[in-house]
Amino acid sequence: MWRIGVSGLTVALWTAAYAQQAGEPACVTCHSGIKQKLEEPVVHPAVELGCDTCHLNHREPGTAASKPYLNDKEPDLCLGCHDAEDSAIVTAHHGQPFQTARCTSCHDPHAAPLPKLIPEEQHGPYGARQCEACHRPPSDGAIKLTAETTAALCFGCHQELKKRFESAAHRHSLLAADANACADCHDPHGSNQPYYLVKDGRELCLDCHGEVVAGKKYVHEPVRQSCVLCHDPHAEANDKQLYAAGNDLCLGCHGDNAAKIVHTSKPFPLFGGRATLGPGAFENLSMLLLRENGTLGHPLAMHPVKKPAEGNKPEIDCLTCHLPHATKASRDLLVTDTPKTSDLCLKCH
Ligand code: HEC
Ligand code: HEC
Ligand code: HEC
Ligand code: HEC
Ligand code: HEC
Ligand code: HEC
Ligand code: HEC
Ligand code: HEC
Ligand code: HEC
Ligand code: HEC
Ligand code: HEC
Ligand code: HEC
Repeated sequence: MWRIGVSGLTVALWTAAYAQQAGEPACVTCHSGIKQKLEEPVVHPAVELGCDTCHLNHREPGTAASKPYLNDKEPDLCLGCHDAEDSAIVTAHHGQPFQTARCTSCHDPHAAPLPKLIPEEQHGPYGARQCEACHRPPSDGAIKLTAETTAALCFGCHQELKKRFESAAHRHSLLAADANACADCHDPHGSNQPYYLVKDGRELCLDCHGEVVAGKKYVHEPVRQSCVLCHDPHAEANDKQLYAAGNDLCLGCHGDNAAKIVHTSKPFPLFGGRATLGPGAFENLSMLLLRENGTLGHPLAMHPVKKPAEGNKPEIDCLTCHLPHATKASRDLLVTDTPKTSDLCLKCH
C-alpha cells in the first residue's frame, strides 16, 4: 500500500491537500465537534493517518454505507491494527474477552482525556480497574460474573437500592421478569450519561415505550422533559412505579408547590426528594386552587376533583378526566381526546 513508509503527518497533509484539490473541504471543516475533540490530551495515533483510515468518504457520490460510515464493522476494524493475542493488550484487559466486544463501548476511537483513550466517566470499581470485583475468568470465551445475576452483582455494593427495591410493592416489570436487565439501562463500566446510562434517559425509556408519545400532538411538559419526574425506573410503593398515588402525584406540581417551583433558583425536591427539578425547569405551571382538603374546585369552582364512586357515578380523580402523557387532539390532555371540552362533560352529565 502507498501508505507504507510515509509518516503519519505527511499522510495527513497529503490527505488535506488532496481533499482541497478535489474541491472538497477536509472532514473536520464540517465536523467541528471532532476537531474540538482532537484537542483532548490523548489522541489516537490512527487519526493522524487520516480519517479515511477508518471511515468511508460519505461525500463521494454513491456511498451507500450507513452511519457512522466505517470501512469495517467493530471489532474487526480495530483488530485490523491491534493484535488481540499480544500479551500487553491481554493483560490490560485482565484476561477478559475484549476481542469480541464493541471496543468503542470503552474506548473513544478519536481522542480522550485519559490514557488508552478512556473517557472520564467511569463507574467506581471499573475506574479502579477492579475487574475482579465483578468478573471471574471467562469460560469458552464468554464472561463469567462473580454473582448469579447482574442484579445480585450490583446489589452486592448498592445495598441502599437493594433495600428499596426489595421492599417496594411495585417493580418495573422489566426487572421483575429479568434479573440481568440492569445492563439494559446502565453500562457497568461507565458512560458519558448521568448514572452511566447507556443513552439519554428519556430516549432510553422511549426505546421500549415509544407508544407513550408516538403520533401525539400535545405532550405534557414533564413528559417532554423526563420520565423519571413521575416514575421510578426500578421500583416504588405505588402502582406503575409512581412517586405518589392518585391526585397527590399531579398536585406535587399543580398544587401549593407550583409558584415555588417556577420561581426557585435552587434544585427543587419533589415527592420527598424522590425526584428533583432543576431551577428554571418550567416557565409556567398552573396552580389549582382547591378547597375542602383538595376535593373540590376544578374545573369549576364547586366541581369535585376527588370523590369515591357512588351509585352509577364513577370515582373521580385527575385521571378520570386527564391523560398523564400526551394526546392527539386535546390541548388539556382530556381523556376523551377531542378538541371539544363538552364531550368530556357529557360522559357524566
Ligand atoms: C461538506 C460537509 C461535510 C464534509 C466535508 C464531511 N462531512 Fe461527514 N457529515 C456531514 C453531514 C451534514 C452529516 C450528517 C448527514 C449524513 O449522514 O450525511 C455527516 C455525517 C458523518 C458521519 C456520521 C455521523 C453520525 O452521526 O453517525 C460520519 C462518521 C462522517 N460524517 C465522517 C466524515 C468523514 C470521515 C469525512 C471526510 C472523509 C466527512 N465526514 C466529510 C457533513 C460533512
Ligand atoms: C481508528 C478509527 C477511526 C478514525 C481514524 C476516525 N474515526 Fe471517526 N469514528 C470511528 C468509530 C469506530 C466511530 C463510531 C463510534 C461509536 O459508534 O460510538 C466513529 C464515529 C465518528 C463520527 C460520529 C460520532 C461522533 O463522535 O460525532 C464522526 C463525525 C467521525 N467519526 C468523524 C471522524 C473524523 C472527521 C475523523 C478524522 C479526523 C475520524 N472520524 C477518524 C473510528 C474512527
Ligand atoms: C470493557 C471495556 C473495554 C473493552 C470492551 C475494550 N477495552 Fe481496551 N482497554 C480497556 C481498559 C480498561 C484498558 C486499560 C486502560 C488503562 O491502562 O488504564 C484497555 C487498554 C487497551 C489498549 C492498550 C493496551 C496496552 O498495551 O496498554 C488497547 C490497544 C486496547 N485496549 C484496545 C482495545 C480494542 C481493540 C478493543 C476491542 C477489540 C478493546 N480494547 C475493548 C477497556 C476495554
Ligand atoms: C490504522 C491502524 C489502527 C486502527 C484501525 C486502530 N488503531 Fe488503535 N492504535 C494504532 C496505533 C499505531 C497506536 C499506537 C501504538 C499502540 O499503542 O499500539 C494505537 C493505539 C491505541 C490505543 C492506546 C492509546 C494509548 O493511549 O496508548 C487504544 C486504546 C487503541 N489504539 C484503540 C483502538 C480502537 C478502539 C480502535 C477501533 C475503533 C483502533 N484502536 C483502531 C493504530 C490503529
Ligand atoms: C461493576 C461490575 C463490573 C466491573 C468492575 C467490570 N465489569 Fe466488565 N462487565 C460487567 C457486566 C455486568 C458485563 C455484562 C454486560 C452486559 O450484559 O451487557 C460486563 C461485560 C464485560 C465485557 C464483555 C462486553 C461485551 O460487549 O461483550 C468485557 C470485555 C468486560 N466486561 C471487561 C471488563 C474489564 C477489562 C474490566 C476491568 C477494567 C471490567 N470489565 C470491569 C461488569 C463489570
Ligand atoms: C464492587 C462494588 C460495586 C458494584 C459490584 C457495582 N457498583 Fe455501582 N458504584 C460503586 C461505587 C463505589 C460507586 C460510586 C462511585 C461512582 O459514582 O462511580 C458506584 C456508582 C454507581 C452509579 C452512580 C450512582 C450515582 O448516584 O451517581 C450507578 C448508576 C451504579 N453504580 C450502577 C451499578 C450497576 C448497574 C451495577 C451492576 C452492573 C453496579 N453499579 C455494581 C460500586 C459498585
Ligand atoms: C429501565 C432502565 C433501568 C433499569 C432496568 C435499571 N436502572 Fe438504575 N437507573 C435508571 C435511571 C433512569 C436512573 C436515574 C434516575 C434519576 O435520574 O433519578 C437510575 C439510577 C440508578 C442508581 C443511582 C440512583 C439510585 O437510585 O440509587 C443506581 C445505583 C442504579 N440505578 C442501579 C441499578 C441496578 C442495580 C439495576 C438492576 C437491579 C438497575 N439500576 C436497573 C434506569 C434503570
Ligand atoms: C428494555 C425495555 C424497557 C426499557 C428500556 C424500559 N422499560 Fe418500562 N417496561 C418494559 C416492559 C417489558 C414492561 C412490561 C409492560 C409492557 O410490556 O409494557 C414495562 C413496564 C413499564 C411500566 C408499567 C408498570 C409495569 O412495570 O408494568 C412503566 C411505568 C414503565 N415501564 C416505565 C419505564 C420508564 C420510566 C423507563 C425509563 C427509565 C422504562 N420503563 C424503560 C420494558 C422497558
Ligand atoms: C406527569 C407524570 C408522568 C410522567 C412525566 C410520565 N408518566 Fe408514565 N404514567 C403516569 C401516570 C399517572 C400513569 C398511570 C396511568 C393510569 O393508571 O391510567 C403512567 C403510566 C405509564 C405506563 C403504563 C402504561 C400506561 O400507559 O398506562 C408506562 C409504560 C409509562 N407511564 C411510561 C412513561 C414514559 C416512557 C414516560 C416518559 C416519556 C412517562 N411515563 C412519563 C405519569 C407520568
Ligand atoms: C413534575 C411536575 C408535574 C407533574 C407531576 C404534573 N404536571 Fe401537569 N404540567 C406540568 C407543567 C410544567 C405543565 C405545562 C405548563 C403549564 O401549566 O402551562 C403542565 C401542564 C398540564 C396540563 C395543561 C395541558 C398542557 O399540556 O399544557 C394539564 C391538563 C396537566 N398538566 C395535568 C396534569 C395531571 C393530570 C397530572 C397528574 C397525572 C400532572 N399534570 C402532573 C407539570 C407537572
Ligand atoms: C371532572 C373533570 C376534571 C377533573 C377531575 C380534573 N380536571 Fe383538570 N381540567 C378539566 C377540564 C375540562 C380542563 C380544561 C378547562 C378549561 O379549558 O377551562 C382542565 C384543565 C386542567 C389544567 C390546565 C388548565 C388550568 O386549569 O390551568 C390543569 C393543569 C389541570 N386541569 C390539572 C388537573 C389536576 C391536577 C387534576 C386533579 C387534581 C384535575 N385537573 C382534575 C377537567 C378535569
Ligand atoms: C367523571 C364524571 C364527571 C365529569 C367528566 C364531569 N362532571 Fe361535573 N359533576 C360530577 C359530579 C359527581 C358532580 C357533583 C354533583 C353530583 O353528584 O352530581 C358534578 C357537578 C357538576 C356541577 C355542579 C357543581 C358546580 O360546579 O357548580 C357542574 C356545573 C358540573 N358538574 C359541570 C361539569 C362540566 C362543565 C364538565 C365538563 C368540563 C363536567 N362537569 C364534567 C361528575 C362529572
